[in-house]
Amino acid sequence: MHKYEKIWLVFGIGALIFFLSVIGVSAFYLGNQPPSCLATIDPDKVDQTAPFSEPGLKKVEGKDWDYELVYVAQAFSYTPNEVEIPKGAKVKFIVTTKDVIHGFEVAGTNVNMMVEPGYISEKVATFDKPGEYLVLCNEYCGAGHHMMYSKIKVVD
Ligand code: CUA
Repeated sequence: MHKYEKIWLVFGIGALIFFLSVIGVSAFYLGNQPPSCLATIDPDKVDQTAPFSEPGLKKVEGKDWDYELVYVAQAFSYTPNEVEIPKGAKVKFIVTTKDVIHGFEVAGTNVNMMVEPGYISEKVATFDKPGEYLVLCNEYCGAGHHMMYSKIKVVD
């Protein structure tokens, strides 16, 4: 084999190994789960597990947020289906799913989470503008995916 051919072969294999390890390290470094999912839950016992046994809006005291808004996602709906919150409320969303992976995006806000079975996804947002906000599923979850939504009404 020609000398230069050998050099390039070694260089090529070296680069390949380098990039594969970069991909490997970055894919598994964070433990392979969405960063918004910190707590776990048994997906078969969602209905019996607090706070998901009573989904909906709850006023809370002594926390960095005013309300906790609990959702259960399942193919192809969210519980609750419609929620009214007062203008200016700082709300912590707490979401889990009973079946497959769903999305949880509140259109027009910074709330955009992946909801995985076995995990609880959380995000805090403040609603300063009155109006209607759509909660949308942005992870393909099956035949009814496009019909999966919920509504949030922010009222004065
Ligand atoms: Cu649920 Cu797409």
